[in-house]
Amino acid sequence: MSLQSVIITGANRGIGLEFVRQLLATQSPPKHLIVTSRQSANPELDQLVSTNPDRLHVLKLEVKDYDSYDGFVQKVATIVGSDGLDTLVNNAGILIYSNLQKVTAEDMLKNFEINSVTPLMLTKALLPLLKSASANRKTAVVNISSKVGSVEDNTSGGGYPYRSSKSALNMITKSLAIDLKADNIRAIALHPGWVQTDMGGPNALITTGESVSKMLDTIRAINDKTLGDFLNYDGKPIPL
Ligand SMILES: NC(=O)c1ccc[n+]([C@@H]2O[C@H](COP(=O)([O-])OP(=O)(O)OC[C@H]3O[C@@H](n4cnc5c(N)ncnc54)[C@H](OP(=O)(O)O)[C@@H]3O)[C@@H](O)[C@H]2O)c1
Repeated sequence: MSLQSVIITGANRGIGLEFVRQLLATQSPPKHLIVTSRQSANPELDQLVSTNPDRLHVLKLEVKDYDSYDGFVQKVATIVGSDGLDTLVNNAGILIYSNLQKVTAEDMLKNFEINSVTPLMLTKALLPLLKSASANRKTAVVNISSKVGSVEDNTSGGGYPYRSSKSALNMITKSLAIDLKADNIRAIALHPGWVQTDMGGPNALITTGESVSKMLDTIRAINDKTLGDFLNYDGKPIPL
């Protein structure tokens, strides 16, 4: 993967923000790095824009505001021009980890909408720009999933909304990989590890720095053998 024309959703904090930091710090940073936030201002992103004004673009996006997608895609198209879009990282997500006693239909639908439906709808909306890049270079859709969405790995039960939303995302990723293969667009689901963020909490095992650095290596190594796969941040396969 060339990572020259990239979108990261949910980039105002946590893993998404670390993707922005690390991509800008690489030897050949993306020519177009488009990152989304639903907040109007973020001091660190604002600072990064001031030092990378031609490269970094922060666009406002509430991922479940489907009516805003046309306008969003137009803005992205204007930024990337004929380069198209070679990497879409669907990172924005929420965690609702209710047990059997507490789970509600509302919890299930809310988690499913943000973690499963919106990555698919955004991918669909951005397909023309992905296809435009895939005509001449490697192109990928990277869905940030979670190991707790692995059916085989589930030995402790519970966590109904989050677990099932990420299992569904893994299935969506597999279908995308098959459907987009002919267009030379690869799709993978990626587990970032248990990461120290607002979502992962302070006791998580790894920092955003370690997670993102290894995920970037894994994304760069995407190939036809990893199509539709569910991979750990270090590139090792996780059973679906
Ligand atoms: N941290 C972990 O240990 C861990 C483990 C496995 C998988 N993951 C996955 O990794 C991804 C990033 O997690 P994280 O730990 O960085 O979480 P985080 O610190 O809670 O950040 C979540 C990001 O998603 C954005 N977001 C949530 N709902 C949104 C919406 N409706 N529209 C637009 N943006 C929205 C948030 O924006 P706001 O600031 O506006 O809320 C924020 O930027 C998620 O998909 C998560 O499921 C994390």
